[in-house]
Amino acid sequence: MKQTQFLVESNRPLTRDVFELVLAGDTSEFSAPGQFAEISVPGLFLRRPISVCDWTASSMTLLVKVVGQGTAALGSMAQGASLDILTGLGNGFECASRNGAVLVGGGIGIAPLYGLAKRLVAQGAAAPVAILGFRSAADVFYADEFAALGCDVRIATEDGSFGTKGFVTDAMAALPEPVYAYACGPMPMLRAVAARVADGEFSLEARMGCGFGACMGCTIETPSGPRRVCVDGPVFRLRDVPRL
Ligand SMILES: Cc1cc2nc3c(=O)[nH]c(=O)nc-3n(C[C@H](O)[C@H](O)[C@H](O)COP(=O)(O)OP(=O)(O)OC[C@H]3O[C@@H](n4cnc5c(N)ncnc54)[C@H](O)[C@@H]3O)c2cc1C
Ligand code: FES
Repeated sequence: MKQTQFLVESNRPLTRDVFELVLAGDTSEFSAPGQFAEISVPGLFLRRPISVCDWTASSMTLLVKVVGQGTAALGSMAQGASLDILTGLGNGFECASRNGAVLVGGGIGIAPLYGLAKRLVAQGAAAPVAILGFRSAADVFYADEFAALGCDVRIATEDGSFGTKGFVTDAMAALPEPVYAYACGPMPMLRAVAARVADGEFSLEARMGCGFGACMGCTIETPSGPRRVCVDGPVFRLRDVPRL
C-alpha cells in the first residue's frame, strides 16, 4: 500500500451517471486486476474505495458511478486537480487462463473485469466471453472497450432495450455450461451467477472504513471464520464463500 498524489488527466462521462477518470501518478503498488484504491475526497472524512479498472506504470483508469456525495465530487474533478490516494489495496484476481471461463459483470462491477480481460489476453489466453449486465441501453458502457480486446461481448439489459432481455444469468443461458466465472457486481447478481458455475472468483463489496485491515468494518463471515473484504478480498474463491 502506498499513499500517493495523483493528478486528473481526463474525466469523461460514459453514461448519465458513470464516468471514466484517468489519473496520473505512481501505480507501482498495483499487481493484479481487482485490487482497489482508496480515494480521499476533499471535505469527506472516509476515503472511498474504487477498483482499478486499468493501469500503466504512470497512470490508472477508474470507472465511477455517482451514488452519493463522494462519487459526485469525483465526477466533477477537472483536469489537473490533485487527489490523495492509497493504491495497491486488496488481493485481486488470480489472472490464470482457465478453460470455460467467463467474465460476468453487473453495472459498475464491470470495471475490474476490463483490467482482468486485458491481462488475460496479454498473457496469451484466448479472449474470454464477457457478459455485461445493465438496466437499459442508455446505461451500457465499455462494451466497445471489451470488444476491442477481442472479447466475445454479450450484453443483458433488464428492460430488453439492448442485447438479451433480463439479467446476466439470462445471457449466460445462451452459452455452453461455463465452469468458472470471474464475477463482480451487486450481491443478488453474484448469488445468481454462483448458482450456475462450478467455481470462480467473486469480487465482493462491503462498506469500508480504512480499506487496509485496521478497522474490521468490512468483516464477513465465511465457513473458515471471519474475513476482512479489504485485505482477504475483495476477490474470494467461490469455494471459500459458498453462502454468498
Ligand atoms: C472494493 C470496492 C471496490 C469498488 N469499486 C468501485 C468502482 O470501481 N466504481 C464505483 O463507482 N464504485 C465502486 N465501489 C463502490 C464505491 O466505493 C461507493 O459507491 C462509494 O464509496 C460511495 O461513496 P459516496 O460518497 O458517493 O456515497 P455515500 O454518500 O457514502 O453513499 C451513497 C449510497 O451508496 C451506498 N454505498 C456507499 N458505499 C457503498 C459500498 N461500498 N457498497 C454498497 N453501497 C454503498 C450507501 O449505502 C448509500 O445508499 C467499490 C466498493 C468497494 C468496497
Ligand atoms: S475496511 Fe477497515 S478492516 Fe476492512
